[in-house]
Amino acid sequence: MGRAFVYVILGGGVAAGYAALEFTKKGVSHGELCIISEETVAPYERPALSKGFLLPEAPARLPAFHTCVGANEERLTPKWYKEHGIELILGTRVKSADVRRKTLLTAAGETISYKFLIIATGARALKLEEFGVSGSDAENVCYLRDLADATRLVDVMQTSTGGNAVVIGGGYIGMEVAASLVINKINVSMVFPEPHCMGRLFTPKIASYYEDFYKSKGVNFVKGTVLSSFVFNPDGKVTGVNLKDGSNLPADLVVVGIGIRPNTSLFEGQLTLEKGGIKVNSRLQTSNTSVYAVGDVASFPVKIFGESRRLEHVDAARKSARHAVTAIMEPDTTPEFDYLPFFYSRVFSFSWQFYGDNVGETVYFGDFSGPSFGAYWVHKGHLIGSFLEGGSKEEYEAIAKVTRLKPAIDDLSELERQGLGFVVAL
Ligand code: FDA
Ligand code: NAD
Repeated sequence: MGRAFVYVILGGGVAAGYAALEFTKKGVSHGELCIISEETVAPYERPALSKGFLLPEAPARLPAFHTCVGANEERLTPKWYKEHGIELILGTRVKSADVRRKTLLTAAGETISYKFLIIATGARALKLEEFGVSGSDAENVCYLRDLADATRLVDVMQTSTGGNAVVIGGGYIGMEVAASLVINKINVSMVFPEPHCMGRLFTPKIASYYEDFYKSKGVNFVKGTVLSSFVFNPDGKVTGVNLKDGSNLPADLVVVGIGIRPNTSLFEGQLTLEKGGIKVNSRLQTSNTSVYAVGDVASFPVKIFGESRRLEHVDAARKSARHAVTAIMEPDTTPEFDYLPFFYSRVFSFSWQFYGDNVGETVYFGDFSGPSFGAYWVHKGHLIGSFLEGGSKEEYEAIAKVTRLKPAIDDLSELERQGLGFVVAL
């Protein structure tokens, strides 16, 4: 049993949706393209799962957040795929791949062959078991990667109103879910090993701005430690967490956000890997010329870093996907993928954006007791990173544009004095 396609997108997440849109713009014929996804729904904007999806009032639900609404593009519903002759092979896990033969084998035993493959398998959430703690299967321990996880989290949240949640991890999931839990009237403790939240991006000064607000909403930060075990009731439900520092916290609900691992296993030993991802060149092409990789799973050359990296953010998934399709369809005219890293988050009524890289000296600007402030990172005499909370559309555009230019900075105190005016003036 088997089917053949010219183009196959493996994975049905953010990158898959944006790749599909780009294929139709470039002119794909009916029946040439398919998307194979383990998920049972058409590609959607994953960021909604830790934000609008968790709201107690008028929560976001599909079909409202199918791709590509996140970039103000067309919303690709199952009907759209049908109208464009794109086969959605949903609820289907690919269990092995043979890049030499150009075939994929599904868990149901179907062989699907391709001329060009785009790997968009994203990543999976790291499990506590990988850190030696058991209990992830308990009914009130939640992870958050896909729609099924988010639906389960909402169910557990609804039975925990007025109760206690323990959030494990102080990264993106931890911060966004903690805010949503507070909005759902659940008492929150956050446990993480670092001295402050968002350790990969925030400086202590930026982190303390957000932490102070979370504290004002009743969030209890437990830093510098990790959990060692759960306390269970006789039904196997978690009622508390024991921490390595000897303390414990009561829990009606536990949310775990301790990082991800890219889904590379199908291609290990067949394609070159790098930085835990699938290595691609500046055309998003892997070590096999018929195979491309995009989104969270791809390790691609990033000029501002001077090396290849994986980026676990939606903008990179959207843009790398579109670029790979262009490189496949217009091989002679497609330029290098020249990507400026862009991260953002929205929690409570806050909204920040970051562009570039966060190494070097930090120069702060704006009012850290007010609604808008930011920071620049200056490395080897050039501005290479910018962070802004509470900016306008024009201000965000300005920090993005200027960061891309990497202007020379001779005088840090002058940059500090000019603050946001520096980028707005350029
Ligand atoms: P993605 O994970 O979206 O999709 C991978 C797909 O591949 C899934 O459908 C999966 O089922 C499928 N798959 C994997 N293996 C398979 C197999 N063997 N067979 C079949 N299918 C397979 N970023 C940001 O910049 N701002 C934000 O606010 C957020 N918010 C956010 C919230 C939450 C809850 C999460 C989990 C993540 C974010 N992100 C984010 C990160 C962002 O969502 C992420 O970078 C993109 O979803 C990556 O897109 P991909 O398409 O690469 O993977
Ligand atoms: P993350 O890498 O952002 O944060 C992981 C956190 O886990 C670290 O900050 C650390 O505090 C903590 N940690 C690590 N080991 C731990 C342990 N043993 N015990 C307790 N804490 C531990 O990962 P995440 O928050 O799980 O997010 C998952 C993915 O989703 C990431 O790729 C992220 O980029 C993405 N995401 C992005 C956004 C956004 O860009 N706004 C929002 C949500 C999710």
